[in-house]
Amino acid sequence: MNIVEELASLRQKIAEEIKNADSTSTIEEIRHTYLGRKGAIQNYFKQMGKIDASQRGPVGKLLNELKEWVTDEVDSLDRQFEKEVTRSAIDLTLQARSPRLGTLHPLTHIERRICSVFQRMGFSVVRGPEVEDVWHNFDALNTPEWHPSRDPTDTLYLKDGNLLRTETSPVQIRVMKSQAPPVRIVAPGKVYRNDKPDATHSPMFQQVEGLYVDKGVTFADLKGTVLQFYRFMFGKDVKIRFRPHYFPFTEPSAEVDVSCVFCGAKGCRICKGSGWIEMGGSGMVDPNVFESVGYDPEIYTGWAFGLGVERLAMLLYGVEDIRLFYENDFRFLQQFGGRR
Ligand code: DAH
Repeated sequence: MNIVEELASLRQKIAEEIKNADSTSTIEEIRHTYLGRKGAIQNYFKQMGKIDASQRGPVGKLLNELKEWVTDEVDSLDRQFEKEVTRSAIDLTLQARSPRLGTLHPLTHIERRICSVFQRMGFSVVRGPEVEDVWHNFDALNTPEWHPSRDPTDTLYLKDGNLLRTETSPVQIRVMKSQAPPVRIVAPGKVYRNDKPDATHSPMFQQVEGLYVDKGVTFADLKGTVLQFYRFMFGKDVKIRFRPHYFPFTEPSAEVDVSCVFCGAKGCRICKGSGWIEMGGSGMVDPNVFESVGYDPEIYTGWAFGLGVERLAMLLYGVEDIRLFYENDFRFLQQFGGRR
């Protein structure tokens, strides 16, 4: 085989390999094998000195053509692969990304849970205004003139003499003023107090008020309902106890404690060694309150309770600082469900 024939068959061989090339790495291999400094074509160039002088011109021309052709082929294949890679980076079969959804605020979660437990027991959910008048917030609730909660050091008054409600109890008054018994309501909402924020205090926080009025309602109903409620929240083994207390709007009044869910009532850091955690106030509606809304206390009896939503949320979620609920730190809020 003379050199011209050799070059023709080399060209055929390369054409075959180019045809079969299926990746950028095979192209690189072809480039290296034939065009590289120690590649086949370069070897022929190196041998030019040994070729018969009359042949050098035409063979040199053939070699140059071959080199140019291989370079062109390999370059164009490279470009083609590059295009395909870019195209396949856009995968049209991929599902579209769903938009980022917000999450419910942890206190909204808890408020909804509280309300739904009571709704299943036949209570309706009502809301009242956050700006209240003195009558609904204090007078009608049998709060004596001298009671310290009326003081501006405790209560935030507005210039017009109204105030930011200090509790959700005035909703009781609004409901009873507007309808005849029986009444079975829970009233969630924000309340305000002139408190410095710290780990357990916030000048604005949330409560849920409960009220049940009918003929023949007793303290036993209160105990049963409250126990049932805390069982829903903390599990069926939770225990409750009523501690005598004073609230202006109830008589008798009691504070409700639940057995500590963290230590099984053995005593720990959270319950300060007592085995019990204070959850809120309750009692039998004071006859004076019935008088102020026009209910006959000789015919009707009722009970009421109030509890703090943050407190419940802190226990259920293990949050140790009430301020976290109001700082709106996305990293905190994201932990309470919802998709990202
Ligand atoms: N309003 C009371 C408070 O904010 C809580 C409370 C206690 C509400 C006893 C009631 C109740 O309805 O009967 O501390």
